[in-house]
Amino acid sequence: MITYRQLFIFLLFFKGLFAGEVSAQIYRPSAAIEERVLSLLDDMTLEEKIGQLTLYTTDWGATGPTIREGYKNDIRSGACGNLFNSHTVGFVRELQRIAVEETRLKIPLLFGFDVIHGYKTIFPIPLGEAASWDLAAIEKSARVGATEASAAGLNWTFAPMVDISRDPRWGRVMEGAGEDTYLGCRIAEARVRGIQGPKIGNTDAMLACVKHYAAYGAPLAGRDYNTVDMSERFFREYYLPPYEAAVRAGAATVMTSFNDYDGVPATGNKYLMTDILRKEWGFRGFVVTDYTSINEMVNHGVIANEKEAGELALNAGVDMDMQGAVYQRFLAQSVREGKVSEILVDEAVRRVLRLKFELGLFENPYKFCDETREKTELLSAPHRTAAREVSRKSIVLLKNEKNVLPLKKTAKIALVGPLADNKTELIGNWNGAGNSNDCISVLEGLRAQTKAEVLFESGCEFFVAKNGGLEAARALAQQADVVVAVVGEQAMMSGEAAARADISLPAVQEDMVLELIKTGKPVIVILMNGRPLALPKIAENAAAILETWWLGTEAGNAIADVVYGDYNPSGKLPMTFPRSVGQVPVFYNERNTGRPYDPNSKWTSRYIDSPNSPQWPFGFGLSYTTFGYTEPKPDKAVFKKGETLQIAVTVSNTGSVDGEEVVQLYVRDLVGSVTRPVKELKGFQKVLLRAGESKKLTFKLNEHDLSFFRRDMTFGVEPGEYEIMVGGNSGDLKRVKVRMTE
Ligand code: BGC
Repeated sequence: MITYRQLFIFLLFFKGLFAGEVSAQIYRPSAAIEERVLSLLDDMTLEEKIGQLTLYTTDWGATGPTIREGYKNDIRSGACGNLFNSHTVGFVRELQRIAVEETRLKIPLLFGFDVIHGYKTIFPIPLGEAASWDLAAIEKSARVGATEASAAGLNWTFAPMVDISRDPRWGRVMEGAGEDTYLGCRIAEARVRGIQGPKIGNTDAMLACVKHYAAYGAPLAGRDYNTVDMSERFFREYYLPPYEAAVRAGAATVMTSFNDYDGVPATGNKYLMTDILRKEWGFRGFVVTDYTSINEMVNHGVIANEKEAGELALNAGVDMDMQGAVYQRFLAQSVREGKVSEILVDEAVRRVLRLKFELGLFENPYKFCDETREKTELLSAPHRTAAREVSRKSIVLLKNEKNVLPLKKTAKIALVGPLADNKTELIGNWNGAGNSNDCISVLEGLRAQTKAEVLFESGCEFFVAKNGGLEAARALAQQADVVVAVVGEQAMMSGEAAARADISLPAVQEDMVLELIKTGKPVIVILMNGRPLALPKIAENAAAILETWWLGTEAGNAIADVVYGDYNPSGKLPMTFPRSVGQVPVFYNERNTGRPYDPNSKWTSRYIDSPNSPQWPFGFGLSYTTFGYTEPKPDKAVFKKGETLQIAVTVSNTGSVDGEEVVQLYVRDLVGSVTRPVKELKGFQKVLLRAGESKKLTFKLNEHDLSFFRRDMTFGVEPGEYEIMVGGNSGDLKRVKVRMTE
């Protein structure tokens, strides 16, 4: 028996006979989305279909957003169905008006934007937020970003970026969640939840776009856009899972990456875009390219010209062309020549239209253009409060000799460094519509919380000395109880196209800090940077070090909260900090090798001029209190394959102030059919412990947690002996062995 609905859809294919009546009915909002999509598709010319697969950027001029005349005409003719970088209600409304009033089919536009760590209220850079290990806080940050952006005309964000990276030379590590797959997956899910909210179609929800699929974070030598080549085992084990987690969390769209993988550019890679993404993971949304990445396949040397590049991309499963205009210029011809089947084009268009319907744009194309919301939501007091909270959670205390921190509010501070009284850098890279004038500088933040003097002298510029600056900073240090040096990178030194071959502090800043240490005053270093830095001399000689990344609008307040102890730092590094760039890539979940590191034996896997250990390991971060751990206790020493194992551990706050600890659980499979990492994060819990308080925590490990890609590339477990490790960072763990039987 065929249902009425099936019949209805069937009839649509014979539009020649039924077009008028069917369309009239099917456009009724009460029809199911799929029917409405098919009906609309049926009315479209090939060129109009391709317009829905085309995405153009607008520009930002001195007086606000602008659009090239040609693009406006393309919207009118239906040749461009989507825009990005267009924001602010007035501007978006006018472009949307053109689409729904001046085009033949009145299909509303999507408006995309990179809301990476906030729209107007800027939150910490994603790597910084990852250091909070606080999924609720991360979700909240994404929620605020989406709430603000959707009040400014936007309905689609190019986030979350979930690229795992083990290479701090790569500038884009600032946009991700660091080096670990497990943490990366959980954060990817949290961000998707935050961006899309409870339901796509809500006025404050945007479409998420998981990027950059796939393995963009593993370019050779850390150089942006460079080749990616690794075994499929590593690819599937470390790099793919966060994309999958984001897709399974419901991410509506996916962005291809610029790189090739195993010799095939991602944008033309059918294995990635169709076999894995759609067939294995069941992804139903649409795939957009990265900026001109179809065109760039010609440079990759896998295709002779742009027209064929478009065919490669569409046939691989890539739906929308960002800025390359390849589909727009050539795809119709490719269809006519039979190089691309119109059925595939239709599928791509359906994926795009489906989401436009889901967003509710056909009912109300201006639903994200609400001037009142734009006025009230952006930079609202609750959003600033949320940013301050997430910011202080993102700070990592790396060193605190003799408990020099927190400072008493009576301490006289000599505040130095090019970032001490700076606002322009605080919003970091990919800063949405953020305005650095809205930021609280460190100087302002400290002064707002103390009546004692905060003396200020930058001492040097970012890269060059300042005339008399060092002397002035020294003189200031002599008058103060303590020196606070705010040093680091400029925001644009990380992010896209910002790979560094040298990941140390700019020399003039490091020299100044080392000079000030010689004064004998305790020097507290506040770092601002978008990647792990190598700063062994500062690590050794500074009294205290706070890693603060780029914290955004509330940076100065959040830093002052931590400096004065109103907030006890709880952040943990999401990425290993090396001693030198020569150790890179250095990451915690390495394999043992046949000759594991032995400092006393030359013929082991080691350097002759550096220890293997990093400066600070993954998961590391201190607190103003201390924590004690019992031995981890499994609920059974021997467990059967398929059974869940429970591990209990009691964590105590052994110091005198309340504090939060990120309790981390790692696993090692001691004998596998392939080599296994010496430890892998498989769980964590962030707990607040009052001074003197103890809490018993329980972790659960199921079969999936212990599974991996075995010798034959099937995913599953191998019974045998496992080591379970628990502790406050990956370098300091208590261990217990358990055995899995068949
Ligand atoms: C970046 C993407 C970004 C896109 C649009 C590209 O250059 O790689 O991450 O979403 O531009 O701004």
